[in-house]
Amino acid sequence: MEEKKHRKHIIWGITGTGYVLDECIDIMKELEEDPNIDLTVILTKEGAAVVKWYKKWLALTKTVQKIKVEKTPNIPFYAGPLQVGKYDMFLVCPVSANSVAKIVQGIADTLITNCVAQAIKGGMDVHIFPSDQDLEPITTTRPDGSPLVLKIRDIELENIEKLKKMEGIVVIPEFSEVRETILHKIKEGK
Ligand SMILES: Cc1cc2nc3c(=O)[nH]c(=O)nc-3n(C[C@H](O)[C@H](O)[C@H](O)COP(=O)(O)O)c2cc1C
Repeated sequence: MEEKKHRKHIIWGITGTGYVLDECIDIMKELEEDPNIDLTVILTKEGAAVVKWYKKWLALTKTVQKIKVEKTPNIPFYAGPLQVGKYDMFLVCPVSANSVAKIVQGIADTLITNCVAQAIKGGMDVHIFPSDQDLEPITTTRPDGSPLVLKIRDIELENIEKLKKMEGIVVIPEFSEVRETILHKIKEGK
């Protein structure tokens, strides 16, 4: 009972990008194995579709017990619980250029963009790792495993800069900082 009281509740959002999926699942595995952490993973419709494109759905669902996929921006309903402080941490990783563009414009019409907006309105910080934030072309992988070089457009970089200035948003600049960010956050008092 005492231990339950101190459990940290983390909600981890995934949007429709194929970047760092394996690496995310590795960190989720660690979190699931920690009895002091309660992990929930939520995905946009396209997030779930892209995970399936990359054939990672089985790995994800084997690793994480609580997984929910968007039906509408408010179903499943996480916006409310986030707004009233039911979670200790809200991380969204990876974030598509599409979701970044919506967030910086104040649009809240998907499960993740809605949760981001409502969490911040409730006074919570949201940690975000955008997949498309490199100044140089990035090498990512196609669903078949072959490499794919992508140039990040100016509009995407401009949106990242706007995102960094938004209240309530903490942009994680490198994927290698995601794990540390989580560990640091869950060590903080509530
Ligand atoms: C296989 C696949 C890989 C994709 N990878 C990326 C990506 O790396 N970055 C990105 O911004 N969008 C990527 N997309 C496009 C997004 O999924 C698309 O813009 C979608 O509308 C995002 O919706 P969401 O932001 O609601 O999840 C990819 C799509 C597919 C099918």
